[in-house]
Amino acid sequence: MDGKSATQYAAWKKLQSLHSSKASKLVLKQLFESDPERFSNLSASFNSSSPDVSLLLDYSKNLIDSEVLSTLFDLAREAKVEAFRDEMFAGKHINTSEGRAVLHVALRNPPADKGGFKISEAGVDEVHGVLEHIKEFSNSVRSGEWKGYTGKSIDTVVNIGIGGSDLGPVMACEALKHYSKRDLKMHFVSNIDGTDLAEVLKLCDRETTLFIVASKTFTTQETITNAESAKAWFLESAKDQAHVAKHFVALSTNTKGVTEFGISESNMFAFWDWVGGRYSLWSAIGLSIALSIGFENFQELLNGAHAMDKHFKETKLEENLPVILALVGIWYNDFYGAQTQALLPYDQYLKKFADYFQQGDMESNGKSVTKDGSRVDYETGPIIWGQSGTNGQHAFYQLIHQGTKLIPCDFLAPVETLNPISGGKHHEILLSNFFAQPEALAFGKTEEQVVAELGPEGSKNAALVKSKIFEGNKPTNSIMFQKLTPGTLGALVALYEHKIHVQGAIWGINSYDQMGVELGKVLAKNILKQLGSEKDVQGHDSSTTGLIHFYQKNRK
Ligand code: F6P
Repeated sequence: MDGKSATQYAAWKKLQSLHSSKASKLVLKQLFESDPERFSNLSASFNSSSPDVSLLLDYSKNLIDSEVLSTLFDLAREAKVEAFRDEMFAGKHINTSEGRAVLHVALRNPPADKGGFKISEAGVDEVHGVLEHIKEFSNSVRSGEWKGYTGKSIDTVVNIGIGGSDLGPVMACEALKHYSKRDLKMHFVSNIDGTDLAEVLKLCDRETTLFIVASKTFTTQETITNAESAKAWFLESAKDQAHVAKHFVALSTNTKGVTEFGISESNMFAFWDWVGGRYSLWSAIGLSIALSIGFENFQELLNGAHAMDKHFKETKLEENLPVILALVGIWYNDFYGAQTQALLPYDQYLKKFADYFQQGDMESNGKSVTKDGSRVDYETGPIIWGQSGTNGQHAFYQLIHQGTKLIPCDFLAPVETLNPISGGKHHEILLSNFFAQPEALAFGKTEEQVVAELGPEGSKNAALVKSKIFEGNKPTNSIMFQKLTPGTLGALVALYEHKIHVQGAIWGINSYDQMGVELGKVLAKNILKQLGSEKDVQGHDSSTTGLIHFYQKNRK
């Protein structure tokens, strides 16, 4: 972004004036009527060598015309999105505040002789060795060859981690449950609230449980505390520290921390500082995924993401799915003042997709200073939220349809279900809702239609008529994929990762640090030391002091 504020780009200024002059004229009903080819003009696809791994993006139901769209692409060019993308792929240290490369793309990169990108950065040549380690270990646990301390095979896996060391594995294990080994139970413990661990331990047998301690830094208070408690629970019956090796493995960049915890280096799966926590499911952090679905499927997940990486790297901006999603998002975020973005997958297996991208997007682009330290004078990352359809329809869609807020929505759905129910019409009903919602949002229902529906008698109630009007003109993207395979999931996740990258590039922010989570952590550590007695409570405002005193007086 050359130290420029986004608002200084000529294309940004033009978008502002287009918004002022055109917003009221960008009416989807008219845009579709005036261009019968609007769907084919404003849809794009991603195809890979695997026929099952393909996506169709329909972005025709957006408040854009050809002038707005071409100006959005001008903005991407002016912000040097392509150069910034290439810098990421080349291993340049684009995470400037931490002086690190950003190379989640290296984690799913095939070897150079098999068509992979050439990436030079310390550790990149170790990626395939770690994958080999994941393969051997996951095969041996899944086959029953890996034995616990009493000689029994593992039937339960508990991943202890938080943030990026939890959300990716949780989302992917849920999304790919169809491919999972059903007799290997998967649990995830993240919260420092002891209830999280306690409830999971109730489901575990010490002789047959494997704990994965997943922490990039291996210093995260929640994870280390939960892992210590899990180890103490395990040793209550295993007694001998030597048995820990059969039941605890670590995923980390911190060898010292791991060995000090009592896990040997041979039970550690390494990764590197250029893997951001929220971009780490492709790394050793994905061990629980490989255990659940098997290494071959895990490799397919990586392959799907790599295919999307290639698409992002090699496709011109106008046909580049992550770029299109990013630009359309910026149009609403920065020019229409939309505060949020909903992710609405019509696939039950994707029920954690929005949760995952809450961290993915909000920890990446929830920034208010640019890379050179200037305060932004425009909006950056949106609030990400959503849940699977059709449940969302019966919860919050009312507000999207008739509320006062503009909420751009991404709808996602598979052509084929993985669970055809015999004699049932589940999938067709699901898809009819997936087709109907964007249609209803775009075209709404006019007063005339309501009156015609209610008839002369019913229409006498003017308030009732008004309450049934749908203004329409609510923007959506629709993404269809063949079916939810590991490769498709990889491509979908990489699609949104790159969208975040492109938006961060245009906003000139560092999408790859997360300084905003530090302050609360530091204050909590300080408060923890003061919880002993009232006289220890020092240095706080009256509200914080009052709350701590209340707790101290009432605890048992
Ligand atoms: O929430 C802050 C954060 O640093 C995330 O970025 C990260 O995913 C999470 O904590 C966990 O960190 P670690 O893997 O080091 O335990």
